[in-house]
Amino acid sequence: MFYGVDIGGSKIALAVFDEQGEERERAVYITPQTTYFALIQLVCEWIIGADKRWQTQGRVGVGFPGIKDAQGRLLAPNVPVIHGQYLQQDLQQRLARTVYADNDANCFLISEYHDGAAASAKLALAITLGTGIGGALIHEGKLVNSRRGGSAEFGHGAMNAGLLARYPQLPLFTCGCGLLGCLETYASGTGLARLYQHLNQATPNDALLGPAIITAWQDGDASACRVMSLYFDVLASGLGGLMTQLDPDLVVLGGGLSDEDWLYEELNARIPEYLMRNVTPAPLIPPVFGGSGGVRGAALLAKRAA
Ligand code: BGC
Ligand code: NA
Ligand code: ZN
Repeated sequence: MFYGVDIGGSKIALAVFDEQGEERERAVYITPQTTYFALIQLVCEWIIGADKRWQTQGRVGVGFPGIKDAQGRLLAPNVPVIHGQYLQQDLQQRLARTVYADNDANCFLISEYHDGAAASAKLALAITLGTGIGGALIHEGKLVNSRRGGSAEFGHGAMNAGLLARYPQLPLFTCGCGLLGCLETYASGTGLARLYQHLNQATPNDALLGPAIITAWQDGDASACRVMSLYFDVLASGLGGLMTQLDPDLVVLGGGLSDEDWLYEELNARIPEYLMRNVTPAPLIPPVFGGSGGVRGAALLAKRAA
């Protein structure tokens, strides 16, 4: 058996996969926010319980938000409970077995590369839209990463100047990473809400959250339309920049919105405006494994290493 663990800022998903890659069991918990110890405890108890239920000692793969440096220390400023911790080593010690761990977006793309949307790509790019924005690159079957472990952090970095020229009223927010104007500050779930609050001068109390903004936009609400149009342009500029610079064969989207047809329609209409002249946009495609991508990819990490 293979266990996939997907640690997110708000939820932790754990799943059991058999040798054939079928998902046999799944659980989702709220991420403990108070102590790192509580988080480790939750994951280890579930895995030891799964060992008993399936009468095995499963191999464990873990996806986490952030960067794992060469020493195994996590840099995850957006998820304070794991920031600075040696997650992989601590789990290994408690579970008395090798634990495989990689960035959550990397796990998502590993999953899509294995019999999913990115299966035939020579160079595949993934962008995940969630609490944070994740990025991943697979080249000829291998994840692209550096010794420091920080490659493909496409949610962070400087704002596109063309976008600023088009939207002079675009606010510049400070990201959890310390930079100004990161894609993540606009296009993550919280980013969208922040954008709404800013553009409509709403107080945090009467500002809408992501899902409500989307509903209002679909109902034709004028302020939600303004916000969504900016949201799509910010995302399109980010994707256009990546398509120009990396020339991926395809781009798979992940996260809660990645199953919505309208997301692809809006982005495909806008991306050409943010491409270098004569560059054709790479196809933007929905994931095959949707919400399972994180746990499935984490389990595949352990399986592939087997
Ligand atoms: C982190 C990434 C992560 C993404 C999604 C970002 O804030 O920098 O490492 O993949 O959130 O969780
Ligand atoms: Na990544
Ligand atoms: Zn940032």
